[in-house]
Amino acid sequence: MAARWIRPSLPPFLLPGDGVGRLGPSRRCGAAAGGDVDPPSSLPWFHRRGWHHGSGGMEPPRRGSGGEVSFGSRSVTLGAILLLRLAFKWMNGRTGEEGMLPPGSRGLPLLGETLEFFAASPTLELVPFFKRRLERFGPIFRTNIVGEDMIVSLDPDLNARVLQQEERGFQIWYPSSFMRVLGANNMVSMLGPLHHHIRNLVLRLFGPEALRLVLLHDVQRSARDELRSWLDRPDVEVRTATSRMIFGVTAKKLISHDDVASGGSLWKCFDAWTKGLLSFPICVPGTAFYKCMQGRKNVMKVLKQQLDERRNAAERKTVDFFDLVINEMKKPNPIMNENIALDLLFLLLFASHETTSMGLTAILKFLTDNPKALQELTEEHQKIMERRVESDSDIAWEEYKSMKFTSHVIHESLRLANIAPVVFRQAKNQDIHIKGYTIPEGSKIMICPSAVHLNSKVYEDPLAFNPWRWKDTPEPVGGSKDFMAFGGGLRLCVGAEFAKLQMAMFLHCLVTNYRWKALSKGTMMLYPGLRFPDGFHIQLHKKT
Ligand code: HEM
Repeated sequence: MAARWIRPSLPPFLLPGDGVGRLGPSRRCGAAAGGDVDPPSSLPWFHRRGWHHGSGGMEPPRRGSGGEVSFGSRSVTLGAILLLRLAFKWMNGRTGEEGMLPPGSRGLPLLGETLEFFAASPTLELVPFFKRRLERFGPIFRTNIVGEDMIVSLDPDLNARVLQQEERGFQIWYPSSFMRVLGANNMVSMLGPLHHHIRNLVLRLFGPEALRLVLLHDVQRSARDELRSWLDRPDVEVRTATSRMIFGVTAKKLISHDDVASGGSLWKCFDAWTKGLLSFPICVPGTAFYKCMQGRKNVMKVLKQQLDERRNAAERKTVDFFDLVINEMKKPNPIMNENIALDLLFLLLFASHETTSMGLTAILKFLTDNPKALQELTEEHQKIMERRVESDSDIAWEEYKSMKFTSHVIHESLRLANIAPVVFRQAKNQDIHIKGYTIPEGSKIMICPSAVHLNSKVYEDPLAFNPWRWKDTPEPVGGSKDFMAFGGGLRLCVGAEFAKLQMAMFLHCLVTNYRWKALSKGTMMLYPGLRFPDGFHIQLHKKT
């Protein structure tokens, strides 16, 4: 039987116990100790107002010299109790008789705890929303965000269990506001064989074979051209420039679209879309979410137009992902239809440039602040150049694979920057019992990899940029309990290897030919996703 939301964890002013919100495990769940709790009557708040539990029962408060309580004041008191009960019920959800739910609060009616979740944090530390609750409740707790009740996991074991039991104990779920901006037919919402099929299709473009044979060369060429163009500019904002560069590569691979030639218009629509992606989902003109939805509309219009043109065009050789997708649509009983195709292209165009450009900008910022790491990275790439017969030949696959310190720099940057701050799932088929708690069937779960990435028990001095910490550790290729920058399990990021390749190629071209001077601080903030609110501005110079 499904467990219920049972024992409250109350806002501090309503908390029993030490008054600062700490509840021992035995007190987290009254029901677990023997049944449901009638919370309001046990609260100090009521005691302060004169309700007493005495051996003879409860005595009402007395007012006035004669100690009589008027009918009016009694109604007010009853009304207040009713309101409190309603508020209490909202904050703590369903009540019932079985199971021990994680502690937590649903926050305010309608808003839940959304505002605090999206509040900006000026450091790379675990954001206050998670930090406060971790201290107060432990690593597994309940909340309500963007209108959804959910259980949050900052616990490595639960995180790993959820991702490893994909499509068995758990399945993909994202808040409806997020699905709205990604599109109802996007790959993230697909399950079972359909998801498997689409994933394999994507891997034909971004999988190991394509990386080695095609993308290795395409990516380094675009990095070289891009960096050369930076020399003419007095000020380069790294996030924007790398985002455009990567978008250029993937838009060509996916839809043969030359965004530079068309004035960068498609990239601009995406940029507007991305800015509102993890924003408060109010769709009225002026809000980031509204701009995000407008950006999506514009991109979809372009994609639809191109798809129609292609479908009506004469038969042609498969040269880009559009061709692959159209071939799929032409098969008898096709799995792919127009909506799936468009949402898939939209997702890939977005996922490929936004995340990787954030990663690259973070890497440049960390290297700027850590000359020793930059020095070792430069030496690694210079050695590769020295071993080459022709110094200006393309980077070979074996050379790429030999870039060990580069790989440490990339992993360390992704660990610290936490580009994908949370992923979501839903408990499927059964209640899940873990660490003394019950996660009822159907519960939505928010997994926060950064809690593990920034845990001092897992990573010594976790806020320090220390690529050397990866030296004797095998590269976490498929993700691990302690490193989830690319997720894990069946849904492991399909572009993880492509992203790493792009970062490594860019770094190779950068440190072997150029040096740079930072023109701005490049402050990083978490919302809870990573952002550079003022960008990261640099000036590039050719090495002499
Ligand atoms: C630094 C760069 C990147 C980071 C940090 C990142 C992070 C992630 C994470 C954490 C997930 C798992 C989401 C979940 O479990 O719900 C994911 C999935 C995904 N990523 Fe990435 N990603 C990056 C680059 C890319 C690139 C370059 C592409 C495009 C080729 C891409 C395409 C996708 C897709 C399509 C999925 C969904 C996979 C599925 O549902 O099977 N990502 N990514």
